[in-house]
Amino acid sequence: MVNVHIHQFAGSAPVDAHAMEQFQKQWASYQKLVDNDYVSHREVGDLLSRALNERFAEPFAILDIACGDASLMKRVLPETKVSHYHGIDLAEPALELAARNLEELGFAVDLDRRDFVAAMNDRPEPADVSWCSLSIHHLVIDDKIRLLRAIRAATNNFVMIYEPTRREGEDRPAFLDRFCAVNRPLWKELTTEEWNQIESHVRTSDLPETRSGWIDAGRQAGYSGSRVIYTDPTDMFCLYRYDV
Ligand SMILES: C[S@@+](CC[C@H](N)C(=O)[O-])C[C@H]1O[C@@H](n2cnc3c(N)ncnc32)[C@H](O)[C@@H]1O
Repeated sequence: MVNVHIHQFAGSAPVDAHAMEQFQKQWASYQKLVDNDYVSHREVGDLLSRALNERFAEPFAILDIACGDASLMKRVLPETKVSHYHGIDLAEPALELAARNLEELGFAVDLDRRDFVAAMNDRPEPADVSWCSLSIHHLVIDDKIRLLRAIRAATNNFVMIYEPTRREGEDRPAFLDRFCAVNRPLWKELTTEEWNQIESHVRTSDLPETRSGWIDAGRQAGYSGSRVIYTDPTDMFCLYRYDV
């Protein structure tokens, strides 16, 4: 039997009832995107699985930055040689879901309730692989590069990130308008309230880069290679691989 440990860190405030209610509302909408595969989690999970099995015939450790409920890892990791999973997320309720998703899977699990920027600058030992999906794009470009540099220092082999991506020459307002025009009719299972909440979040918080922007960020962060390995059918999300 393998235990799941959730660690709290100084500065992580307790979850109050209002924060919990907000989290549950937002998470329920996000969960619909995942369950209906609206943002291609299935395909990127398969690509992560393939990359892990091509590289690791021996036990390895994986770091999942902004892990959420770790549902992708629940599907991917049992088919690999993983021996240790470390998930970091700021939201305690997400970590509780992750703990449930990852219990009894036969590998060690540590979950840290922490801001990922602070966590990446304070890593005791590197992981073999790091993964981050749909979470870095809230940072401005200089902070993205700083974070990617810290992830490189904390990783032995390769890093994969899955992030919203503008077309070359497409500015942020044009991306946001395309995001809404394309996804509103596709994401049929969302209620109007759920769509409005996601649209408002994306319009206020998302700072997607272009493909060349994400690749250049990897170069500036010191990776030996940076490339796109998948673009989703809407041409709005790309999976990148950065080799250490
Ligand atoms: C859109 S979800 C993605 C979850 C998961 N990676 C996936 O692909 O399904 C974004 C996650 O990032 C977490 N998050 C956002 N900012 C964070 C930060 N500064 N430090 C740690 N986690 C953060 C949120 O709590 C949330 O679980």
